[in-house]
Amino acid sequence: MPILRIGALASGRGSNFQSIIDEIESQRLKAQIVLLITDNPSALAIERAKKHSIEYLVMMPKGYKSRDDYFATIAEELKKRDVGLIVLAGFMKIVGKPLIDAFPYRIMNIHPALLPVFPGLHGQRQALQYGVKLSGCTVHFVDEGMDTGPIIIQAAVPVFQDDTEETLSERILFYEHKIYPEAIRLFSEGRLEVQGRTVKIKGYVQHSTSIVNPPVKAGSDSYREG
Ligand code: GRF
Repeated sequence: MPILRIGALASGRGSNFQSIIDEIESQRLKAQIVLLITDNPSALAIERAKKHSIEYLVMMPKGYKSRDDYFATIAEELKKRDVGLIVLAGFMKIVGKPLIDAFPYRIMNIHPALLPVFPGLHGQRQALQYGVKLSGCTVHFVDEGMDTGPIIIQAAVPVFQDDTEETLSERILFYEHKIYPEAIRLFSEGRLEVQGRTVKIKGYVQHSTSIVNPPVKAGSDSYREG
């Protein structure tokens, strides 16, 4: 199989972008990041791209006729480089239709909450404000909605009573850096199949571990199928 060519879109810190770079450089992920596009000239992601000799483009929406024109141009740049998968890594814009149409089910996003709850900005803050006991992160394919596309992989973490937005974000981010490269690996191995809203994973081995928070009395949380 030819090596997967990835295009990344990021607006800021780029720690997820970095986790994908690291996974590739340590050869756990067979892929290549061929382009970073950012809408923010001072994004830290740019420094990361430079450090790893990844080509980058700063593309800001101003200067384009319309939002569609902006995203059509982004699609062109990615097509030019024969990109097979686009990863949104903290990209702070809702992706426009021309880009989605050019890469159907070939755009992924990472979101810091267990979708479909708490979409949009500040997933971690929303979780704290609501008072949920579990939160986490989600990698999903991107459609035209905001954080609404078919879910590929999720990780759940407990929310602690004394959590702040920072401590919860940090706990979630640890798993973001694990599940995003994993989702990309599954994609690169041709193991993701979208059926309606559901993503089926070929060769998936079922586990029935669970997270219970607050924990229940020892011995009473085991679950057996059947
Ligand atoms: C992450 O929390 C991600 O889930 C969200 O935006 C944040 C980006 O962080 N979409 P980084 O730029 O990858 O460090």
